[in-house]
Amino acid sequence: MAEQPMTEPMDARETGRRFLSPVMARYFERDWSHGDGHRLFDVDGNSYLDFATGIATTILGHRHPRVTAAVHAQVDRISHVMNGLGYSEPVSRLAERLVATLPAPLDSVFFGNSGAEAIEGAIKLARRSTGRPGIVAFEGGFHGRTYGALSVTSSNPNYRAGHGPLLPEVHLLPYPQAFREHGGDEAAATSAALGIVDEFLATSVDPQSVAALLIEPVLGEGGYVPAPVAFLQGLRERADRYGMLLIADEVQTGYGRTGRMWGFEHAGIVPDVVCAAKGIANGLPLGAIVASRELHERWGKGAHGSTFGGNPVSCAAGVAVLETIAAENLIGNAAECGARLERGLRDLAAGDRRIGDVRGRGLMLGVELIGDPATLAPDGELADRLIAGCADAGLLLLTCGAAHNVVRWLAPLNVSEAEIDEGLGIFTGVLAAA
Ligand SMILES: Cc1ncc(COP(=O)(O)O)c(C=O)c1O
Repeated sequence: MAEQPMTEPMDARETGRRFLSPVMARYFERDWSHGDGHRLFDVDGNSYLDFATGIATTILGHRHPRVTAAVHAQVDRISHVMNGLGYSEPVSRLAERLVATLPAPLDSVFFGNSGAEAIEGAIKLARRSTGRPGIVAFEGGFHGRTYGALSVTSSNPNYRAGHGPLLPEVHLLPYPQAFREHGGDEAAATSAALGIVDEFLATSVDPQSVAALLIEPVLGEGGYVPAPVAFLQGLRERADRYGMLLIADEVQTGYGRTGRMWGFEHAGIVPDVVCAAKGIANGLPLGAIVASRELHERWGKGAHGSTFGGNPVSCAAGVAVLETIAAENLIGNAAECGARLERGLRDLAAGDRRIGDVRGRGLMLGVELIGDPATLAPDGELADRLIAGCADAGLLLLTCGAAHNVVRWLAPLNVSEAEIDEGLGIFTGVLAAA
């Protein structure tokens, strides 16, 4: 690791506790030193198999040589221009490569810095290009912390409480919850949720006033619940019927995470707008809104912009990420290693009544902990103990869900089978002792 030019040693934990805002909740109180491949190291010299990946961000692991080389080369060339001043190679190249991963007519990209910004922009694009104010989003969704993104977020009441008033004309409808509400029956969950969408559009709001339907193909922060294929197809049909846009929030599901490049591919549909961020620059800040040129043109020149968005260093990293995914067949690896992990977790669940459900797609897998199989009462306390115990044993996992009772696994896309088995082994031991 390169030497850090520090004037004097410091205790980042103590200083951080004193000077950093307590508004940021932290999973761990460890003081992180550095990363190497799939391992994170703390300042006390402990190493951790990193299946948290900065919450689905360092998808190629830490200090990936290709990404590091691209970043170094770009910093040596130029760090910032601001895209309003013209064009630069890494930005245009990444836009071209990103579009190549998407089906027609998704052919034009706006770059921002984050997931929330991508959602903000997509809401603005939808409203202005359709001339309609309404946005329908789904309960349990997480789309970010800025006002527009927060207005469509409902994964945890604490995120919204006291921050209102939020954006008007946002409607939150139920996300299909097969495990919690329909005894695991996806078809029943789908028809109930689509029925509510139809009822809502028939009685509560004029569909002609709705600009967009916005959905995560797999509910992320809300508990790792995949949207049934038929539900996404049903939303596509309704969007077409009423002239609404379908926006896919692929901030967490995109970039191979689900074993396909994009989460919507599992349903065989094409959204009108795709929002991406998190893994797209392997940890550098970058977000993207992709839609057809025609939609971007309807949005209008100058209607949106960003000083830092599409920074050339982040975009150079982004090009290296896409090249690595293709060169190393990482989508295939995510599907295979995800299937191996899912099998292992299902075997564990079969012998442990505290695991109510194992679900997800590809390498986006959740283990839902329950206190009582009859009531499905969430056991967030057990999940918290499990991730703390796993961290002590050298494995980083996270939780999600409003009751934080879902342990989520976010291995890097280039994880090996041996690492999957190592993670499963640690989790099995910690669960047995919990
Ligand atoms: C699905 C989804 N959308 C949007 C966001 C917001 O992204 P960011 O934290 O980069 O603003 C997140 C972050 O967790 C997310 O999971």
